Amino acid sequence: MPASFVHYKVNVPEIDDAHWDLLSTMRLINQFGAEHNIEQVKLLTGRLGDKLKLHQAYEESLMESAGYLYLNSHKNAHREVESRLAEFQSAVNRNLAYSHMADSMMDMLRHHIDEIDRQSFEWMAAHPHQSE
Ligand SMILES: [Fe+2]
Repeated sequence: MPASFVHYKVNVPEIDDAHWDLLSTMRLINQFGAEHNIEQVKLLTGRLGDKLKLHQAYEESLMESAGYLYLNSHKNAHREVESRLAEFQSAVNRNLAYSHMADSMMDMLRHHIDEIDRQSFEWMAAHPHQSE
């Protein structure tokens, strides 16, 4: 994990690892895209979708057990990321021009991690769960 990623950390190690993996995968997709290696782009875009779903479901389960107050709006944000990724995947698989979608996918992932996840994990750190 490079120093530049420190900026994105939410300070929950397994979440930071998963975020780093998602952003790295997206960056690799762009690198293969620049090399016109469409088979790798398709493979990695599929993999990104699987990783994203697992990761977001895991995040939601952490938030749920922490009693996170704004869980529903976070879940809505996750569904938006998933549907943007589904559109991106569909363009890639149909061999359509996708570079603008790749850019907006990267922006959306960065924004989600840097703003939405950070706020949520800060809230959870400030409101430790009271067990009965
Ligand atoms: Fe999230």
